[in-house]
Amino acid sequence: MDTIHALAAQLRRARRILVLTGAGISAESGIATFRDAQDSLWARFRPEDLATPEAFRRDPALVWRWYAWRRGQVAAAQPNAAHRALVELARRRDTVLVTQNVDDLHQRAGSVDAICLHGALMRTICSVTRLEIDADWLAANPGEPPRSPHHADGLARPGVVWFGENLPADALDRANAAATQCDVVLAIGTSALVYPAAGLPGLAQRHGAWFAEINPQPTPLTPAADLVVAQPAGLALPAALAAWEEA
Ligand code: APR
Repeated sequence: MDTIHALAAQLRRARRILVLTGAGISAESGIATFRDAQDSLWARFRPEDLATPEAFRRDPALVWRWYAWRRGQVAAAQPNAAHRALVELARRRDTVLVTQNVDDLHQRAGSVDAICLHGALMRTICSVTRLEIDADWLAANPGEPPRSPHHADGLARPGVVWFGENLPADALDRANAAATQCDVVLAIGTSALVYPAAGLPGLAQRHGAWFAEINPQPTPLTPAADLVVAQPAGLALPAALAAWEEA
């Protein structure tokens, strides 16, 4: 049985599926991933120059402009066949979607209640209180970055988790709970280098789940996978759903 039919068979038999996605699932929407050498976002900048609280304190304008550029990229992009296939999967089986991505392509494809471990690019928060800052305020108070309405020393910053910051506790709790309760776990488009997200497939396996990795490249999780589908997600996921009846 080829890998697509093997994946379809497991998904069809599944009671509860945990899906972990990374930047790779948005690659076919034209959004550069973090670690792909040829067109990596990081290749242009060193991560510590941008995605850390220290970088924001040192040069808030540079960090704000980089995120404004990324927001523009995401706004111009469309969800791809992989995002849409996960919406269809959730229609067929009880599925929990956990994403490391801060783009809103899963949500725009129709995924509801995605657990966003690393926050959301389109959200803006106060750099001191972390309270949400709405679009009306930003439009009325332009700046690079705008100041915050919530604190005299506050600035507007993206609502994403920076290196060295804690993940949202409720999101992580929900992701861990899903990992202990699923019988199938998929890791799609992630290099599996950043924890705790990368620990979710192993946690699921320790609770008896079957684990498939969907990624054209090997990762540190590949040896532990029960099935490796070394294909782009935009091909593999629709193909697995199409093979569902034959599985
Ligand atoms: N389909 C599936 N996987 C793909 C595709 C595709 N079409 N294209 C690329 N990939 C894979 C790459 O092989 C790589 O393993 O997607 C992965 C992308 O890895 P990263 O760029 O490291 O992205 P990610 O794993 O999401 O990074 C995790 O690190 O930088 C931090 O907070 C950031 O959330 C991010 C975290």
